[in-house]
Amino acid sequence: MPSLARHTLPTATVLLLTGLLNACGGGGISSGAATASATAMPTTPAAPAPLTLAQVGDRLFEDTNLSASGKQACASCHVEARGHADAANSFLPLGGPDGTHQGLRSSPSIRYLDQAGAFTIDAQGRARGGLFWDGRASSRAEQARGPLFNPDEMANADVAALAVRLRALPYAADLRTAANLPATATDDQLVDAAITALVRYQTDDAKFHPFTSKFDAVQDGSATFTPQEQRGLDLFNDPQRGNCASCHDSRPVPGQARALFTNFSYHALGTPRNTSSATATANPAFFDLGLCGPQRGDLAGRTELCGQFRVPTLRNVALTAPYFHNASFATLEDVVAFYATRDLDPARWYPVVNGQVQAYSDLPAAYRANVERGAPFSRPGQAPALSAQDVSDVVAFLRTLSDGFTTGQPGS
Ligand code: HEC
Ligand code: HEC
Repeated sequence: MPSLARHTLPTATVLLLTGLLNACGGGGISSGAATASATAMPTTPAAPAPLTLAQVGDRLFEDTNLSASGKQACASCHVEARGHADAANSFLPLGGPDGTHQGLRSSPSIRYLDQAGAFTIDAQGRARGGLFWDGRASSRAEQARGPLFNPDEMANADVAALAVRLRALPYAADLRTAANLPATATDDQLVDAAITALVRYQTDDAKFHPFTSKFDAVQDGSATFTPQEQRGLDLFNDPQRGNCASCHDSRPVPGQARALFTNFSYHALGTPRNTSSATATANPAFFDLGLCGPQRGDLAGRTELCGQFRVPTLRNVALTAPYFHNASFATLEDVVAFYATRDLDPARWYPVVNGQVQAYSDLPAAYRANVERGAPFSRPGQAPALSAQDVSDVVAFLRTLSDGFTTGQPGS
């Protein structure tokens, strides 16, 4: 948002920008006044301002020295150019002490999470909110501990091991100053400060909620959809057709200015098993059941929740392949076609063994009744809710959700 950006620009940048505007004749100030204000500026550069906690968080987010392998940072799996999701060409992220452990789940985009809220289950038994695909962290601070100590990710053995790494950083003093800690800060205090800094970076920095997509520009009246994109949005919203917006809200919730393309609810879609042999799912007896485990243990008895994962935002989805919690799809075309034909043409999506289609192959048979069956899923014998042309139209619309749109771009 331009107004926000202007407020956060450092004074020096504002002066520089003002000077540039004057240089191309855009400013209202005469060149004489500009020269006068330039000569009035102090000639000795001021001492650099101390880093804010969010700025320290930015450094930490990029810093591979926080990991046991010395090779992995938050930014390795949450890449800014990819909507802060998986790095290009990585199917399921590799991590661990030697950088070779295969994780279980796809790295989601970590933008637009501010409204996720704490994990809850309502009186009707419907889960909502929380962080991770299974909602097991209720805040970003709780979440950040996950990768830092996860043996498949940054793999710090314990708080003491991470504190040693933090003390060795060239900006360790900046971390302490920004967090108001003395030089004698304990291991726990330092680790807590680093986590707070990572959280502040993700909540304060506009990068994590820029709202600069073509969709936003159309909402603001500064761009128009192509006819295909508009058809895609209409299908996305139509409860009888795509019905996508029933989970991926295309309208802002009350009190919010912008749509987030998720309502943070949980559903079982019956995605196919990811059979790429390097994954944990290579063990046929292992199932990632989302809400009911094994990554979280507290809902293991709630079998009606097995197979449910949190609805992800679709903002930046064109940049965040592979798709679904188990990275079982490589393209958006296939994801949307899967919704349209999962139960009409199951052999297209699931393995066929001895002539039998293994539908919902990433769920044990006992939990297959949990799978969603309303639109856009069609029952055998019905017409597909979306034709092949409709699938292309929905994908064209999804491509308008990438941040960084500027008018004048092809298709704007
Ligand atoms: C090895 C790759 C990897 C690294 C390194 C990593 N992440 Fe993640 N991140 C993931 C994966 C995979 C998930 C989803 C895990 C799950 O749902 O169980 C995730 C989930 C998240 C989420 C929750 C997203 C959501 O939609 O709820 C946030 C926030 C996040 N990571 C931030 C971070 C931060 C901060 C760091 C550094 C301290 C970090 N990640 C390091 C792979 C990684
Ligand atoms: C009943 C709720 C629901 C409906 C309806 C729905 N989705 Fe989803 N969507 C989800 C959930 C839940 C996931 C994550 C599932 C998983 O990973 O197991 C998801 C994942 C996705 C993903 C993958 C995103 C990623 O980051 O991996 C895309 C793309 C997507 N949906 C698009 C659509 C489109 C397009 C439609 C309409 C044709 C649609 N969805 C309808 C609930 C829904």
